[in-house]
Amino acid sequence: MSDLTGRCFVVTGANTGIGKETARALAQRGAHLVLACRSEEKTRPVLDELRAESPAAELEFVALDLGDLGSVRACATELLRRDHPIHVLVNNAGLASVRGRTRDGFELAFGTNHLGHYLLTRLLLERIERSAAPGRPARIVNVSSHSHYSADTIDFEAVQQASKSVTGLHEYEVSKLANVLFTKELARRLDPAKVTAYALHPGVIASDIWQRRVPRFLSAVPRLFMKSTKDGARTSVYCATSVDIANHTGRYYADCKEKRPNRAADDVELARALWEKSAAWVGLDP
Ligand SMILES: NC(=O)c1ccc[n+]([C@@H]2O[C@H](COP(=O)([O-])OP(=O)(O)OC[C@H]3O[C@@H](n4cnc5c(N)ncnc54)[C@H](OP(=O)(O)O)[C@@H]3O)[C@@H](O)[C@H]2O)c1
Repeated sequence: MSDLTGRCFVVTGANTGIGKETARALAQRGAHLVLACRSEEKTRPVLDELRAESPAAELEFVALDLGDLGSVRACATELLRRDHPIHVLVNNAGLASVRGRTRDGFELAFGTNHLGHYLLTRLLLERIERSAAPGRPARIVNVSSHSHYSADTIDFEAVQQASKSVTGLHEYEVSKLANVLFTKELARRLDPAKVTAYALHPGVIASDIWQRRVPRFLSAVPRLFMKSTKDGARTSVYCATSVDIANHTGRYYADCKEKRPNRAADDVELARALWEKSAAWVGLDP
């Protein structure tokens, strides 16, 4: 495992679950970590734990509520003010099978899992690009899900309304397809010598996500058959650090191996439309 001293990683939703274990694994290798989370109270004990375990690592908190575009803008402003490089942005935070709308009126899963991360990434992009070194591009890692295979398109009307399905599962699948489409569009738009992008499925992982508001039939999936959160972080860490995939921008990974994503993720027009509509919704130029 290479030493990550001097490398700065921003990880969203790092106060628990896969994000916390991703932060832990990177901190153990000496990285500078910024944990972008919505609760400082929940994140403080995690910072203490990781600092005690990895005294060489630099660890910071920044407030981020992805369901509130104002909070996303404030988070980006604060990160840019801190004036350190961002070598890798790991868009990990997510919620599943919840119903409702974000503060700005978008369908809850789409607004949080895709749109919040879209805005954060766009606002940090220049800093991420400037953090690249010759032969060492910066990276954007989007934590998607195997669930994205179940969505065949994005209904751009539906994502501007409250969740319609009873379980919220369909909306989750759509948000995770958006993560893969966003990754591919980033790869098309960015110079791979400066920034590369990856999407991934972390596995079926025994995290808090199953104890939140998931449908009863899913929360009954025995944790016995799930992998640990430590296992769940492996593919994120692989995509964030492996030199083997430095030339493979825009690809999708599971179990630290490249995998063919859903065919819908190859729809270049859909990816472009998602990018442009997302830009308009968050008030940025496409
Ligand atoms: N676990 C699995 O089996 C599995 C499978 C496929 C994909 N994934 C993906 O893996 C990623 C991590 O999930 P996990 O399993 O580690 O779930 P988790 O334990 O429930 O953690 C989710 C994280 O996202 C944060 N989050 C949720 N809504 C947020 C918001 N509005 N703003 C900022 N942060 C927010 C949570 O913060 P709070 O603690 O404050 O709520 C938490 O830190 C997600 O993108 C998920 O879709 C998980």
